[in-house]
Amino acid sequence: MKRISNSNYNTEKKTMVFLRYSLLLLTISVILSCQNRKSTYQPISQVPDLEMPDNHLKFKTIENYKNYKVIATHFRTDKNELRYIMANNLAYQALNEKRPLPDGSIIVKIGWDVKQMPNFKAALEANHLKRIEYMIKDKKQFGANPGNWGYARFVKSDNQYKAWKKGTASCISCHNIAKENDFIFTKLQKLD
Ligand code: HEC
Repeated sequence: MKRISNSNYNTEKKTMVFLRYSLLLLTISVILSCQNRKSTYQPISQVPDLEMPDNHLKFKTIENYKNYKVIATHFRTDKNELRYIMANNLAYQALNEKRPLPDGSIIVKIGWDVKQMPNFKAALEANHLKRIEYMIKDKKQFGANPGNWGYARFVKSDNQYKAWKKGTASCISCHNIAKENDFIFTKLQKLD
């Protein structure tokens, strides 16, 4: 039988101590990062239980939309509406890395009418929220649609949301204009 030499024994002991300390540090950092995550503010969106009449997409699918990233702002001069375009994490990362949008990508559009700022007439500000709409890439459900996109629109008036009763055929046909860009008009708006 081979005997363990003294120096080997010392090296093993040092390795064990090193491993124990590493494990301790790892545990502490995991606990700290969990605490950090808990303290990150996550606004909750309470969306009504509505669904589109034709493709049955639900408002609840984007329940978490207030945590999405704003990726662009638009203004529709014909509708006099300010729009925020927001993306879920999957879509945001892909856009940032200039990759094609993967299955599960969601792009949300929120529209507000505008009014003059009461104390500075030349400035406009958001007035009433008029619509929340979204596109979701889902090959399983929307494999027959261009780009595998499903569409949903929820309009708001008198403080109440309603699903867009005309359905989504017009969404699909007009978004065809943007087919060179995966049926999306939005480009990631530069912040620098
Ligand atoms: C007549 C053309 C037209 C129709 C119909 C239309 N859209 Fe769009 N959509 C646009 C244009 C133009 C933009 C970019 C400007 C803006 O933000 O309004 C846009 C932007 C969007 C965006 C942001 C992503 C993008 O493509 O830039 C979403 C989400 C969206 N539309 C959803 C819908 C839904 C849902 C419907 C149907 C209920 C619909 N759209 C119908 C023209 C259209």
